[in-house]
Amino acid sequence: MCGIVGYVGPSQAPTILMDGLKRLEYRGYDSAGIAVHDGNRINMLKAKGKLINLAEKLKENPVKGTLGIGHTRWATHGAPSDINSHPQLSGDSVIAVVHNGIIENYLDIKEELSQKGYKFVSETDTETVAHLIDFYYKSGMGFFESVFKTLERIEGAYALGILCKDYPDTLIAARKNCPLVVGKGQGENFIASDIPAILHHTRDVYFLDDNEIAVIKADSIKIYDRNQNEVQRDIYNVKWDIDAAEKGGYEHFMIKEINEQPKIIQDLVERRMPEGRDTIDMSGIKLRKENIQNLSRIYIVACGTAYHAGLIGKSLIEKLTRIPVIADVASEFRYRDPVLDEKTLLIVVSQSGETADTLEALKMAKRSGARVMAVVNAVGSSIAREADDVFYILAGPEISVASTKAFTAQVVAMELIALSMAQELGKFSTEQFNKIKEEIYSVPSSISKILQKSSVEKALAEKYSGSSNVFFIGRGLDYIVSMEGSLKLKEIAYLHSEAYAAGELKHGPIAMIDENTLVIAVLTQEELFEKTLSNIKEVKARGAKVLAVAMEGKSEFKGEVDDVIYIPRSSWMTAPILAAVPAQLFAYYVAYCLGTDIDQPRNLAKSVTVE
Ligand code: G6P
Repeated sequence: MCGIVGYVGPSQAPTILMDGLKRLEYRGYDSAGIAVHDGNRINMLKAKGKLINLAEKLKENPVKGTLGIGHTRWATHGAPSDINSHPQLSGDSVIAVVHNGIIENYLDIKEELSQKGYKFVSETDTETVAHLIDFYYKSGMGFFESVFKTLERIEGAYALGILCKDYPDTLIAARKNCPLVVGKGQGENFIASDIPAILHHTRDVYFLDDNEIAVIKADSIKIYDRNQNEVQRDIYNVKWDIDAAEKGGYEHFMIKEINEQPKIIQDLVERRMPEGRDTIDMSGIKLRKENIQNLSRIYIVACGTAYHAGLIGKSLIEKLTRIPVIADVASEFRYRDPVLDEKTLLIVVSQSGETADTLEALKMAKRSGARVMAVVNAVGSSIAREADDVFYILAGPEISVASTKAFTAQVVAMELIALSMAQELGKFSTEQFNKIKEEIYSVPSSISKILQKSSVEKALAEKYSGSSNVFFIGRGLDYIVSMEGSLKLKEIAYLHSEAYAAGELKHGPIAMIDENTLVIAVLTQEELFEKTLSNIKEVKARGAKVLAVAMEGKSEFKGEVDDVIYIPRSSWMTAPILAAVPAQLFAYYVAYCLGTDIDQPRNLAKSVTVE
């Protein structure tokens, strides 16, 4: 989604802004722009399309200055175009604004300002913010007060970076329901919507809270609350290295992140279940036996890939604890009036910790008295800060839009949460626990084995990349892996694909099956194997090509399918993690064959901060 970077200090801002924007490209965008203060005036350059277009404009019309803001835009209000790109300026270039999020009442404000003679050139909601600040500023308020007054008026979600022509040393930042960090350097300071944009300049960041404003100069950062009182904020030192946000020799971030999975899961497992310990270390979670006993239901709410991890969590928690669990996508959950009270636990799952619908679902649950646990990757993100309990997966920055390493780490996290709850409720013995622990400990090496044989998925992708219609089928946990596999294929290969519960296929979708259909069948759950096999026979009889994902040693069905990808033998609980990896690799290599933009697929954004 949109990206923001801002700079004030001794260096040339355009270079820093362009470099920062480059590092935010992965978030997905369709136009970009910068505004730079040259000491006298604000100069702006904007271009539709990729950053290279902006870079070319910058080469033709170099701008200079040591204060500036930059933006990559993912269109919401108005098509991608030079005019609609950010920054947006007030009419006479007194105010420049970059904005992530959506101003919900912009039409009312636009109407009001139009009547006062303000002329709007773009279709964006953001232009309203620039004009409104300008209006207050010209009515005699200072820059800071004008921004404050404007924030009192606007409704919706925003991260803002703002410049004023008469303040050549000041950058103002503000946020509400959209991520924004302030980076503290030596004699220079930064703002960014996402840490990788500024990490090569500083590791020290302040996370702004909702309704806070930061007034930033080269040698000072002051943060104010909504009542204009200065607030003291601790600096957060970013632990992960910039290398984690670079490709490190891989052709794409996606394949790099797929390959990081063994290490990430090993670290996660060793952190939470160290050798010699027969309980799970639930640091960050204050939920205890009495809270769990008191629960009447659990909801697991998330979007996209994180929702699929949540679905696996639902199965595991329900099975191990016998507490009813309902999993839902956040955009539905919010509007269907769910039963929420003090006896409800809401578990939200989010890689970025910033997904708007997930965040709003969390807030809604809290207002109803429910307890909220978050399974999150991004440290200090909005969801992590709002939740009562946080389980960090610490998978490092995930840059590829299609989530891979965060997914498998989220599934491991859900397993550990399910196990810990079941243990608190006395549902199994130390011996049983140790057996499961051993199985989870074997996951990293099993994934490594799958990765070593990735030429299998590559060859199959080459064979099947011409398919126009793909069905993923499976039962139980295999069905959930199917959903994730299908999503990956849609996201990065733009291949029409659907996931269906294998048993449900004959209630409609089987009508679509013909000799041009590829059916990918996931069969890792022993007790459901024969059932899914019958469904394979049904599609085979109708001419489909069938590619199966099964455990090593399962060879009796080979005559029924065209190809098989084998995963190492594992338990019912850990098999979904392993089965997800060939699905990721298959999608990656199909996309590779089709020549799509793998890390930044069309129309998608890494972190969806609008509803
Ligand atoms: C977007 C991304 C998906 C991601 C989903 C949820 O749609 O493209 O890859 O799964 O958001 O994101 P979250 O950060 O909440 O896990």
